[in-house]
Amino acid sequence: MKPTITGQPLARIDGHAKVTGAARYSAEVQISGVAYGVLVTSACARGRILAIETNDAEREPGVLAVITPKNALRLPDTKVPENDRVVQVLQDDRIVYSNQPVALVVAETLEGAMHAALLVKVHEEKEPATVRLDDEIKNAFEPEPQSASGKKSADQVRGDPARGLREAAMRIDETYQTPYETHNPLEPHATTAVWNGPDRLTVYDATQGVFGVRKKLAKMFALPTGNVRVLTKFVGGGFGCKGTPWSHVILAALAAKQVGRPVKLVLTRPQMFGMVGGRPLTRQRLSVGANKQGKLTALRHESVSTTSRFDDFLEPAASVSRHSYACENMATSHRLVRLDIATPTYMRAPGEATGGFALESAIDELAHALKMDPLALRLASYAETDPTEDKPFSSKSLRKCYAEGARRFGWAWNKRSPARADGMLVGVGMATSSYPAYFSKAEALARMLPDGTALVTSGAVDLGGGTYTVMSQVAADAIGLPMDRVRFDLGDSEMPEAPRSGGSQTAASCASAVLLAGRALRDKLVRMAVADAGSPLLGARPDEVLIENGRMTANGRTDSFADVVKRAGGAPVEERARAGPDEARKKWSLHSFGAQFVEVLVDPDLGHVRVKRLVGVFAGGRILNARLARSQLMGGMVWGIGMALHEETVYDEKIGRIMTRDLADYHVPAHADVQVIEPYFIEEEDVHVDPAGVKGIGEIGITGTAAAIANAVFNATGKRVRSLPITPDKLL
Ligand code: MOS
Repeated sequence: MKPTITGQPLARIDGHAKVTGAARYSAEVQISGVAYGVLVTSACARGRILAIETNDAEREPGVLAVITPKNALRLPDTKVPENDRVVQVLQDDRIVYSNQPVALVVAETLEGAMHAALLVKVHEEKEPATVRLDDEIKNAFEPEPQSASGKKSADQVRGDPARGLREAAMRIDETYQTPYETHNPLEPHATTAVWNGPDRLTVYDATQGVFGVRKKLAKMFALPTGNVRVLTKFVGGGFGCKGTPWSHVILAALAAKQVGRPVKLVLTRPQMFGMVGGRPLTRQRLSVGANKQGKLTALRHESVSTTSRFDDFLEPAASVSRHSYACENMATSHRLVRLDIATPTYMRAPGEATGGFALESAIDELAHALKMDPLALRLASYAETDPTEDKPFSSKSLRKCYAEGARRFGWAWNKRSPARADGMLVGVGMATSSYPAYFSKAEALARMLPDGTALVTSGAVDLGGGTYTVMSQVAADAIGLPMDRVRFDLGDSEMPEAPRSGGSQTAASCASAVLLAGRALRDKLVRMAVADAGSPLLGARPDEVLIENGRMTANGRTDSFADVVKRAGGAPVEERARAGPDEARKKWSLHSFGAQFVEVLVDPDLGHVRVKRLVGVFAGGRILNARLARSQLMGGMVWGIGMALHEETVYDEKIGRIMTRDLADYHVPAHADVQVIEPYFIEEEDVHVDPAGVKGIGEIGITGTAAAIANAVFNATGKRVRSLPITPDKLL
C-alpha cells in the first residue's frame, strides 16, 4: 500500500501533554510514601574517603538514612554489563574523580534531604592527580575496538600515506583540539525506584534506553531480568548522557531497598558535570596532501582522546575520515589517555562531530593553500564508493546536498576577498556533514481491538524528537488506519524490546519493526476475513483485498477490521515482528550525508562571532515527518553553533574539578546567538538500509557545523582557530 500518512508534517501528538504539564517525567511520577535522596559528592579528583561525619545530618528531623560506603547495602555484583559504564555506588572508599557520589541522604522531603546533605562532612585523603592531557600523553594507548565505532579497530591503513604526502603538490599538517563538553539536557537525570517485595524492582528513569537500565540493575542486584521493570514515558533531552545508567540509578534502587521506601533521586545541575559523562577532549593531527587540481593524494587522521582511570570510552574522531573522501592513501588511528576524570561518554554525534571539525577544517586549509573553492576541492575527491571498506554506498546524495546548499545559500567563492559590513568582518564557510546509518534489532507488537482501533507498542524511548508521532504514522500506514485510530506506546521494558535511543537509530530500527508488525497484523486480519463465513469477503483472494481507513474491500464488498475482531470473539488480534540488520546489509556502506554553509559576522574590536545564517542540506533516507525532522536537524545545527562558539567544560587543573557547573558558566547558544537556521532535506529512496528506508537524522545536524563556522571565521578574519570553542580571546 502506498503510504499516505508517513512523511506528513504532523505536529507532535504528545505536544499538548507537554505544554500543559500533563506529561509526567521521571522525577514527576506520583508514588505514595516516596522518600527523597540527595547525593553528596567528592571534592578531590583522586584519593580515599578517610571518614564521613553523618551525626549532624542524621539528627535532622525527617532524615531516614545517611548512606555512606561504611553502611551501604553490599551489592551482590559490582561488575557492569559489557559495553556499559563503570559506576561508583558507595561500595568502597575510593575517590576516582571530583564530584563522585560519596554519600546519599534520604529524607521525608526534598528540602530536608538537601539541608541534611549540607551537614555531611567528608574527610578525604588526597592523592596526586591530573586532568591535563599533556601530563599523561606519553602513556597513550590503543583502545579495544568499541561498539560505538561499530567494533572497528582503532587503526586502519590503506595504500601508502607517507608516499601520498611526499608526492602531494600541497600539504597541510595541523593539530586541532576539541574541548571537554557536557550534555546538559534540560531535564536533569532522575530516578524513582520502587521495590515490591525483596526481589521485584520498578524504576522510573530519565534514560535513553529502558532495556539497558533493566539489564544493569538486574545484574548488580542479582535479580532475574524479568523482575526489574523500567518505565520512561517522557525524556527532556538525552544527547548521549542518558544512554547508559550511571551511579545515581543504582544508588536510588540501593537506597530504596535500604530504607524500605520508594526513593526519588534527582541530580542537581552541578552534579551533572562529571558523574553522568561528557564529551572527552580530543587532540587530532591531520596530514592531508593534494595534487595541483585539488585531488587528495594522502589523508592521515590521528586522534587522541581522554578517558578515566577506570573505564575506556573512545571518541572515534578519526572514523569520519575513513568514509568521506576518495583517496588512495589513508591512515586513521585512535589513542586513549587516562586522566583523573569521570568517564566520558557518547555525546551527540560522538566521533563525527569532533572528527568532522578537524577533517573539514583541514580540507578548508588545503583549499585555501591551493587557492581553490573549498567546495570544488571536495568535489574533486568525491567518494563514489566507500574508500576504506571498498563497498558501494546504499545511497549517497551528497552531490545534491552540495548543489542545493550552494544554491540556497548563494555560495560564490571569491578567493577570499575580505568584506566588511556595518563595521563587521563578514565571512563565509562550508563543510560536509556525515553520520553512519545505524540499525539495530527491534521488536514491535501490533494489536487490533474490537473497536477498530490499533495499539502498537515497542519499548523505545522518545527523547523529544517525535518517536510517538512518527511511529504512529508508520503504524497507521502499515495497518491501513487513519492516525486517530492508532495509538503507539513506548518506554516500558515490559514491551517488545527496542534499542537504546542513541546513535540516531531509533527511527530506523523501531519504524522497521512497527512497519513489519503493522503489515503482519493487516495481513492476518485479511486472512481472517476471507476465511470467515460471516464476512462479506468470504472466499476473496487476500491479494485482491484493498484496505483503507480500517475497511477491507474486494469485488465491491466490504468488511471492517472491527467486525473481523468482533466476529472472532472480540479478543484483540495481534502480531509481533522483529526487524534487524541481515547479511545483505553488510554489502553496503551506510551513511547519511549533508552540507552546511554559513555566513558569520566578526566584530574586529571585540572578537565576537555571530552566525548570521546557517544553511544545511541533508540526505538521511526517508523522512518520516518533515516538520519533526526539520526540528531535529535545526537542533543539531544549533548544537553546532554551541560547539563552535560556546561550549567548554573547564577544569581547575590544580584541583581537578570542573568549574563550569551550571548554565551560567557552561555556555550554550541562547536566542540571540541563533539567527537564521535553514535545514533542508534531499529525500532518498534507500531499499538497502532497513525496511523503513530510514537513515536517521538525530545527530547529523551537528556534524560539520563547527568546521563550517571556523572556516567562515577564517574567511572573515584570516585567523585559523584550530581549538574550539572560538572565543573572542582567540581572535584578538
Ligand atoms: Mo546519542 S550521543 O548516540 O545518545
